[in-house]
Amino acid sequence: MLTAEEIGEIEHEAKNYPVRSAVTIDALQIVQRHRGWVSDEAIQDLANHLGVSKADLDSVASFYNLIYRHRVGRHVIHLCDSVSCWVMGYRQVREELEKQLGIDFGGTTADSRFTFLPVVCLGCCDHAPAMLIDGDLHTDLSPGSIANTLERYL
Ligand code: FES
Repeated sequence: MLTAEEIGEIEHEAKNYPVRSAVTIDALQIVQRHRGWVSDEAIQDLANHLGVSKADLDSVASFYNLIYRHRVGRHVIHLCDSVSCWVMGYRQVREELEKQLGIDFGGTTADSRFTFLPVVCLGCCDHAPAMLIDGDLHTDLSPGSIANTLERYL
């Protein structure tokens, strides 16, 4: 069930759109902000609340790579794996992250501290390689900068 707080925030956002179905992504983000991820049950509850089909809502949630359809760690790392980052040292940065985290893409550390995911171009190719952690942009990455960066996220 959606909480009263979630419903209140969704309805507040819905006022900004001419049709109710247009608030879909905002609604998914609201649920994720409260719960950390969006479960199948939450998709069904949201579909009922918005008057859209579960399949349509699920396809939006699955397409939008910042909506998590599985439980994630306290911090989510999105490492850019697009072309400029590839050219500027992506491979070495990825290997260092894998070594320090002990996981590969799609994984979550045993202590649930980090989930590690790929993402397409973050739009800062002139400062590649780049990654997002919880929405914070980290650029000009090198294997030597990874440990200090991760230490900021407990
Ligand atoms: S290719 Fe990585 S930021 Fe653009």
